[in-house]
Amino acid sequence: MAKHTVTLIPGDGIGPELTRAMTRVVDATGVDIEWESVDAGADVMEKYGTPLPDHVLDSIRKNKVAIKGPITTPVGGGFRSVNVAIRKKLDLYSCLRPSFSIPGTGARYDNVDLVIVRENTEDLYAGIEFEEGSEAAAELIKFAADSGAGVIRPDSGISLKPISIECSRRIVKFAFDYAIANGRKKVTAVHKANILKHSDGLFLKIAREVAAEYADSGVEFDDYIIDATCMQLVLHPEWFDVLVLPNLYGDIASDLAAGLVGGLGIAPGANIGTDYAVFEPVHGSAPKYAGKDMANPTAEILSAVLMLNHLGERDAADRILNAVKTVLAEGETVTYDIRRTNTGSTDGAVGTQAYADALIAKL
Ligand code: NAI
Repeated sequence: MAKHTVTLIPGDGIGPELTRAMTRVVDATGVDIEWESVDAGADVMEKYGTPLPDHVLDSIRKNKVAIKGPITTPVGGGFRSVNVAIRKKLDLYSCLRPSFSIPGTGARYDNVDLVIVRENTEDLYAGIEFEEGSEAAAELIKFAADSGAGVIRPDSGISLKPISIECSRRIVKFAFDYAIANGRKKVTAVHKANILKHSDGLFLKIAREVAAEYADSGVEFDDYIIDATCMQLVLHPEWFDVLVLPNLYGDIASDLAAGLVGGLGIAPGANIGTDYAVFEPVHGSAPKYAGKDMANPTAEILSAVLMLNHLGERDAADRILNAVKTVLAEGETVTYDIRRTNTGSTDGAVGTQAYADALIAKL
């Protein structure tokens, strides 16, 4: 029996070719993983009547660890995001997105080493919305006026921003536990508590309480307002270590952080709950590159590095990370996106699988 069984969801668009490159690199380290491959998304709709069949969730529940490629979310009609559904159904409340400079990516900074911890289950992402003109919106508008909370224009659509004690507590605790386990020095809570007193204000209050519980941990704590954080991230990214944010700010700040270190092609991520962990790149399915053997698999491969660390396979994780650093620093065998950032042209770029071959040669 394999030492680890991992659920593999290849996804669609560029997903299958990226996950193939990823499994080839991981397997080449010799680590003993059996991949249990299951499909989700538009391609399985016809067969199972849903883009997220039960057997996919059952496989993750059984194996506890999964890694996926991106899955397209149809715009307008069709189904809601499979990616969001997986996070919700398995209560994967922490979204972990490390951002660190790797020489050779052509990024604007060479001194970034920070980790975004984004709350994954509530805030404006909770999906509690009232359509403009609906009866429910009218009732809510009346309630806000009658209760003295405030006047909302009658022609408004409304999205609610729930932030709870429980979810704030567990995400800030996650950030501290992550900081301790990974030798990090500081946790920064990011919010807009000066304006949003009852949602972000509560988040900040709980963050301070949790920080007090970790006072002896050696991990420092501070807090910043989201707008100031965005400016400081661009001016002084080296000031930041672990940032913990409510869902929407975390979403925006993690793309900002990806931009600091060279873009979506290299930004890995993980969705972690109490029982399960699902690893995936920050980027989407980039349909225009699907099937062309062009897309950069680094984000998918660095997501596998996070997964290997989670599985306790630190040696294999380090070897892959070092191979990525070496190949990017040499700059000879890189995909079109990296080539273009470095030289202004895609001439001389290699394909997805040739890049994976170059990594394997450096393991
Ligand atoms: P996207 O991330 O797929 O692509 C945006 C652009 O970024 C691409 O056109 C390409 O230029 C570049 N890019 C992304 N990944 C790359 C890679 N590995 N190598 C080189 N270049 C890369 O974002 P978009 O176009 O907004 O979304 C496409 C689909 O993906 C949508 O249906 C969206 O809902 C879905 N999506 C899925 C996610 C997931 O599965 N977790 C996350 C984000 C989007």
